[in-house]
Amino acid sequence: MSFHDDDVVSNPSTNPTFAEVSQSALSRRRALQGSLTLAGVAFLGCGADNPTAVVSALDEGLRSGTIAFRSIPISMQDTVVVPEGYRADVLYAWGDPVSDGPAFAQDASNTAEQQEQQAGMHHDGMHYFQLESGRDASRHGLLVLNHEYTDDGLLHVGGMTPWTAEKVAKSQAAHGVSIIEVRLGKDGWTVVRPSRYGRRITARTPARIGGPLAGHARMRTAADPSGTLVLGTLNNCAHGHTPWGTYLTCEENWAGYFVNPSGDVPGVSPEERAIILRNQARYGITAAGDGYRWHEHDVRFEASLHPNESNRFGWVVEIDPFDPRSVPVKRTALGRIKHEGAWTVETRDRRVAVYMGDDSRFEYIYKFVSRHSWRRARAAGASPLDEGTLYVARFDADGGGAWVELAFGKNGLDAANGFTSQADVLIETRRAADVAGGTKMDRPEWISSRPGRAQIYCSMTNNNRRGVEPNPAPDAANPRADNVFGHIIRWREAGGDYDAVTFDWEVFILCGDPAHADPAKRGDIQGDLFGSPDGMWFDAQARLWLQTDASTSAVGTADYANIGQNQMLAIDPDTRRARRFLTGPRGAEITGAVGTPDGRTMFVNIQHPGEPTTERSDPAAPTASSNWPDGAAAGRPRAATIVIRKDDGGAIGT
Ligand code: FEO
Ligand code: CA
Ligand code: CA
Repeated sequence: MSFHDDDVVSNPSTNPTFAEVSQSALSRRRALQGSLTLAGVAFLGCGADNPTAVVSALDEGLRSGTIAFRSIPISMQDTVVVPEGYRADVLYAWGDPVSDGPAFAQDASNTAEQQEQQAGMHHDGMHYFQLESGRDASRHGLLVLNHEYTDDGLLHVGGMTPWTAEKVAKSQAAHGVSIIEVRLGKDGWTVVRPSRYGRRITARTPARIGGPLAGHARMRTAADPSGTLVLGTLNNCAHGHTPWGTYLTCEENWAGYFVNPSGDVPGVSPEERAIILRNQARYGITAAGDGYRWHEHDVRFEASLHPNESNRFGWVVEIDPFDPRSVPVKRTALGRIKHEGAWTVETRDRRVAVYMGDDSRFEYIYKFVSRHSWRRARAAGASPLDEGTLYVARFDADGGGAWVELAFGKNGLDAANGFTSQADVLIETRRAADVAGGTKMDRPEWISSRPGRAQIYCSMTNNNRRGVEPNPAPDAANPRADNVFGHIIRWREAGGDYDAVTFDWEVFILCGDPAHADPAKRGDIQGDLFGSPDGMWFDAQARLWLQTDASTSAVGTADYANIGQNQMLAIDPDTRRARRFLTGPRGAEITGAVGTPDGRTMFVNIQHPGEPTTERSDPAAPTASSNWPDGAAAGRPRAATIVIRKDDGGAIGT
């Protein structure tokens, strides 16, 4: 990212939990190993004190699919590179019409109204929904993708000078979500135009507040006294999709759009003031914000004047892509954090579990489990996502872990700690996790599940403040101080079902460079090097597609000198071996992978090509570092969805 949390340590205090649990570590490990020994499970030569051995020994079932392409080298070029025998084509770039809207203007002169009918900026999470069945399931569908944020240096003629209401409106129109209809014809994949499905959801599209907080006093504003309808969704990062065919978009770094220049809230009681300022501080609402300057022309983003407006952001938002008239719904039972994603799986009894990372330093991993089976809830006219249990993850030092319930009245979530109802828990979810004792992670990004197993993977992208006073020290699940390369964790739910309240975990890969002068930064990657893991997605053959987001200021410099620009790799979850499949253009991160059901097409997003280290481009030199994808004709680098096919029509990865 950018305007991510790279400069914010949102949660520096240390929970007591780790010290307390480490006491029980040895006894628990012995108990776990004892039960495995009784079950006759071999450890395959791994040391008995290695929690890796425990989880690996628990794995059963099919091995992952073949990874047979020829690995590509690192790249510092301004282009997308894929292996021999594959091709990557641009499908849908910032400014391209969603349906039959206006074409992109290379000088960024499209108006706000035109931008509402075009692809937004900075593509991120994405899912493919099939529109047909059989063979055509993989030839005709809807792509739904996020537009995370804007580079206002590129977005407008003259960048942010002068700053006008029209530019704020255009910036808001370039945020949100695209729904596009796509089809595979004899000339490859194209966007269907016009399309009855083609649609943009922006930072101004009306969205309903659903679940326990609909209408709650802390959700009411001057513009919406009902507390049920909010304008828009923003900073939509990763995503999820549900068994009933909807898309989940996740509001990540929403706090930076709000400002509170006075650091005060006039006109409320001293008690209310204390609660509001505590909440703003915990999520990082500051005097200056992240520089979007929306508040100058849209006063709801001025948090001293409209303190409840920010309570209406930080949610998982559900969108029905098949109904162009449907209203997005913010699902408040899933908690309010800086949501990276909402990876959704079915339990054996057809309830759903939603796994969610909160991507800031020292924040948490969460899980929501629905109360009812999704079919039963929907048959009763209810959303499966409106009623259930929210948990925070605690990773214990012995390789075990627990899902700690975030329910009012339990685990310290009571009046003594400033919680008066479940509404407070859901609005102040981070503080609830602090009190309940979750494990503070190294920026948890995407989460994905391995097909056929209750085995979950999560990227910890990096955390260079780990172990730096006064921040938390390394712990078992975040084992390195100054964790500049990041790591990937995986866990297996107890009993092999996603509704479990305990799990076994291990560090899957410690990223790094074996040639690094500092032994602590060498990691344990097998195969091709990468750092700052972020996007991840398992295809149906259990190949783990891993994407990286090293910051522009890190790429090519000291620690990352041998790792090149951001990339996508295929990782065999059985052997842990990584093979580099794609390298991106200058300044870009790679994100948003998804395939068609037949595995023969993969869609990938290239986000923020050309991003400078300052993170907002110079409008006088918009192509200073990249002119991808338009090349010599480019007036601007453009984020884009690309489509990858194999020349022989085979499955991607083989
Ligand atoms: Fe938007 Fe945490 O990446
Ligand atoms: Ca990231
Ligand atoms: Ca990300």
